[in-house]
Amino acid sequence: MPALTRRKLLQGAAAAGAAGIGLSAAGKFAGWAAPKPESLILKTASIEAQLMQGAPTKNVLTYGETGMPPVVRMRKGEPFAARLINGIDDPTTIHWHGVRVPNKMDGVPFMVQPYVYQGDHFDYAFTPPDAGTFWYHPHCNTLIQMGHGLTGVIVVENPNDPVFDVEMVVNLRDWRLGDDGQFIDPFRPRDAAKAGTFGTVRTANWLDQPQFDAPAGGLVRLRAAITDVTRIYAFRVDGAEATVIALDGNPVPQRFTPDALQLGPGQRLELAIRMPDEEGAIVSLRDVRGTKPKILATLRSVGKSLKHELRDVGPLEANPVAELDVDGAKRIPLALSATAENVAADSICGSLGYSFWAINKVPWPGDTPDPTAPLAELKLGQSYIIDMENLTPHAHPIHLHGMSFKVLSSSTRAVQPLVSDTYLILPNEKVQLGFVADNPGDWLLHCHIIEHQKTGMTSYFRVV
Ligand code: C2O
Ligand code: CU
Repeated sequence: MPALTRRKLLQGAAAAGAAGIGLSAAGKFAGWAAPKPESLILKTASIEAQLMQGAPTKNVLTYGETGMPPVVRMRKGEPFAARLINGIDDPTTIHWHGVRVPNKMDGVPFMVQPYVYQGDHFDYAFTPPDAGTFWYHPHCNTLIQMGHGLTGVIVVENPNDPVFDVEMVVNLRDWRLGDDGQFIDPFRPRDAAKAGTFGTVRTANWLDQPQFDAPAGGLVRLRAAITDVTRIYAFRVDGAEATVIALDGNPVPQRFTPDALQLGPGQRLELAIRMPDEEGAIVSLRDVRGTKPKILATLRSVGKSLKHELRDVGPLEANPVAELDVDGAKRIPLALSATAENVAADSICGSLGYSFWAINKVPWPGDTPDPTAPLAELKLGQSYIIDMENLTPHAHPIHLHGMSFKVLSSSTRAVQPLVSDTYLILPNEKVQLGFVADNPGDWLLHCHIIEHQKTGMTSYFRVV
């Protein structure tokens, strides 16, 4: 139950306050081998942050000492290293969402790595094969840890990318805060059994509707990641010409204007925006889903028009994702459903105490020391097509770790052959996702509405 983890978290915050966890606590860790100089330090901490008007919010979690987790920059094809240091009183790990890493670097506790306890550390090292927008988050007690702030954006740069006048990175997420600015219960069971429990305060880069300056008549590369635990967005841009250039870290085969483009938790949107010529013009990125549309962030044009053109934005290089052999592919049936079976096991990695959802009728909350059997054992190098069917009245952003798939067809809509790691399957939709099982290991597949994941909508493939 959340009470347990919440108490642990509060203890952690108290300890952080008393010991002044931050750089000053470094002495406590004396005797550790120094990290390699190029290793990025990502240290979890409990902080206070101003997330709404009024009192600052306590027990906000971040990597670093203040503000939101840093945007982590990597370069395609170049080694990257980071040391996770756990400064909070709750075990944690880091998952590099969408980055095709070796299994041991994937951050799933029990399955591929041990917990990282308070005061302990874990070194991650890998070479990102793909350029694009990705993100990172814990894979332990995720409803609390992510809900309280541990979600950061990753940009994998490619020196061959087209040139923009400015780049903006936007971390989109909500917070469940009461009127006093403090965290309230992370979820309601009756909502977990439906679309999920929504946040009460909506932010972009931990701010309410931030405004960025961009050169008039200039070209903006806007990278947005939905790092919220629940919310599905429908994106639109007002006040400027805008085109979608990449989704989920991969270039789109055909660019298009975002017109209520629906993306779910875990997904990333990359836009090329051409700023208006007039100085002071405002461009807005909006979420138009549901009954309470929201301006997420705005851009203000500054200076004399650069007179650049959207059509001059050259193509993004395709990522080196293996092309599947459609004819030789083996089929994997995968049904998403509700379940009446209650198998919720207690786990220090954050059991919510309920099971509402299942994959192929098996509910499993993930991140437990007693994994269920894999969905399927896949042969290294073989092509597969997942026939995924949504038997529920809700949309689910289904995320596969470790490998990228291609969207082949859908029963309900026209789809581009997008390469992705997360597919937002709509109610009653059937979709075919093809991929080559080219990364050995155990790879999770789960809904990225964290309450769904943690109440059963989780499974995994074993690639051998
Ligand atoms: Cu973004 Cu298994 O997670
Ligand atoms: Cu779901």
